[in-house]
Amino acid sequence: NIPSSVRIVEVGPRDGLQNEKQPIDIATRVQLINMLTAAGLNTIEAGSFVNPAWVPQMAGSEEVFKQIDRLPGVRYVALVPNSKGFERATSANANEVAIFAAASEGFSQKNINCSIDESIDRFLPIMKAAKAMDIPVRGYVSCVLSCPYEGEIDPQKVAQVTARLFALGCYEVSLGDTVGTGTPASVNRMLDAVLKIAPAERLAVHFHDTYGQALANIYASLQRGIAVIDSSIAGLGGCPYAKGAAGNVATEDLVYMLNGLGIHHGVNLNKLIAAGQFISEKLNRQSGSKVALAASR
Ligand code: HMG
Ligand code: MG
Repeated sequence: NIPSSVRIVEVGPRDGLQNEKQPIDIATRVQLINMLTAAGLNTIEAGSFVNPAWVPQMAGSEEVFKQIDRLPGVRYVALVPNSKGFERATSANANEVAIFAAASEGFSQKNINCSIDESIDRFLPIMKAAKAMDIPVRGYVSCVLSCPYEGEIDPQKVAQVTARLFALGCYEVSLGDTVGTGTPASVNRMLDAVLKIAPAERLAVHFHDTYGQALANIYASLQRGIAVIDSSIAGLGGCPYAKGAAGNVATEDLVYMLNGLGIHHGVNLNKLIAAGQFISEKLNRQSGSKVALAASR
């Protein structure tokens, strides 16, 4: 049942850099995205258009979208929380936008300052405008396994929010283990519920690696037929509203595992490692990718 090819959604320039203590300069953000493009990634979340008072690290995403060297066939995605964010994203010529809801009320309140129901209402005008402009919309569900404020999450709750995002018109929904507490067992229980309301072809997974379970969780998801995987260069990331959560699975480590499994992905590992080295040096820190560390020895 394991897919023969996988699409990697690189979220480092957004999920990664949103969580840095110091805002990263535009030139560095642009160069990182260009290097990720050169490595063969075809879906790159390049920034977010949220309230800069909430996430100052993503201020200036307009400039980033303007300055990157776009390759035809590559989708540069923007995370947007509301209509204002959508307008900013489309003015910046984002190829695709991503909206984000949560399976937990507590996280929804902390992250986007509204209830789950209110968030769905806010997404309605985005979906309408996106349809008129022919812009694909991806959906995220956060806290699919646990919530920093509410603990364990009921898989039924995840299935319900996922169904609502599909009903809105999202072409794909990415299931986020925001805190990174999951194991293949809890992932499988969650997927049992979600796969009842959507086929694997329309789902993606998004694992933060806080407890070192991300690759195992990805492997479990592959076995359920899921073929779209979010990852972050050098394992950067976290969420400002999920304190203590580590970055996403490192893209380098994901690619290494896919290579071993003989699963096609289209990414050049050496170029990817170079991109990870570039940003790790800029951030003055060791890469979060074990593959990158091994390759540098
Ligand atoms: P709010 O304060 O309730 O918003 O925040 P508001 O509508 O009341 O507006 C307040 C002010 O913000 C107004 O300005 C608006 O214009 C402005 P004022 O009149 O006071 O001068 N504003 C904006 N400015 C720029 N761009 C915008 C925008 N919207 C309003 N888009 C809001 C609500 C949703 C905006 C806020 O809570 C927010 O920005 N939250 C984003 C938090 C965030 O970025 N979290 C991280 C990303 S999610 C994540 O990491 C999880 C994920 O990776 C999956 C996983 O791992 O689970 C996706
Ligand atoms: Mg995330």
